[in-house]
Amino acid sequence: MTTTAPPGAPGTDDVPDLHLRLLDWYDENARDLPWRDPACSPWGVLVSEVMLQQTPVARVLPEWTAWLRRWPEPADLAAEAPGEAVRAWNRLGYPRRALRLHAAAVAIRDEHGGRVPDDHAQLLALPGIGAYTAAAVASFAFRQRHAVVDTNVRRVQARAVTGAAEPAPALTAAETRLAVRLLPEDPPTAARWAVAVMELGALVCTARAPRCPSCPLADRCAWVLAGRPAHDGPARRAQAWAGTDRQVRGKLLAVLRAADGPVGAAELAACWDEAVQRARCLDGLVADGLVEPLEDGRFALPRS
Ligand code: ADE
Repeated sequence: MTTTAPPGAPGTDDVPDLHLRLLDWYDENARDLPWRDPACSPWGVLVSEVMLQQTPVARVLPEWTAWLRRWPEPADLAAEAPGEAVRAWNRLGYPRRALRLHAAAVAIRDEHGGRVPDDHAQLLALPGIGAYTAAAVASFAFRQRHAVVDTNVRRVQARAVTGAAEPAPALTAAETRLAVRLLPEDPPTAARWAVAVMELGALVCTARAPRCPSCPLADRCAWVLAGRPAHDGPARRAQAWAGTDRQVRGKLLAVLRAADGPVGAAELAACWDEAVQRARCLDGLVADGLVEPLEDGRFALPRS
């Protein structure tokens, strides 16, 4: 395995050793997740990556399984109204992702003959597919060499290489450059490395209680070697839920999901007492394309 790390870069002076340790650890410790099965289709990988971006694995598993059973190919989803994707999203949260997946399925059917493209630029050009998802699908589904940088990867890099307790508040160009520098040259190995770093961040190098004694990198981790200094940046704000617009949007969508057809304002009003907030949230759902207002004053999940 070769490396492109410049000599003397912090924490990257022996990248082949980093690769060996983490890849061995992954072989022993990786969770057996269905989207990691080599038999999983690129569509299955794409769906998993969109679902996993803001939702934990345990909540994604049943929804992913149901989604792939119902829509085993992009064209199966593309044939349905976008509202069916919103309905099937259930309680995964951040439901605009359901619309994005539907839009991607339509483009895959119309522009790629129903097959998820293996080209990174074509993936990135799909509606609703951003830099993270394009890199993740190219890497995990097609075994290509791409930096796949999610919050877990950012935290591992911050600690093991940079020596900081937490990464910067938002992804920086320096973090992406570092991720590229750390990639093994050989594409299938790079793909395995990408998921291995992510897994280390999910299972060992966790945000709140890192399990350093179980970490294959502990004796060369820049943060451990510096004495595990505390995070010195702004505190991350906990995501509030009760009483927020997110909660009210979720309640409104739950009413529409449970209904067979359009729903009247009175039925929606029953899910949240506070009228001003309820109206604001309903307006927001309409503006986001998650709810369709009908001419008769009722509301429905989007039909086109
Ligand atoms: N395996 C592949 N991608 C993943 C992700 N985003 N989260 C957890 N496990 C994964």
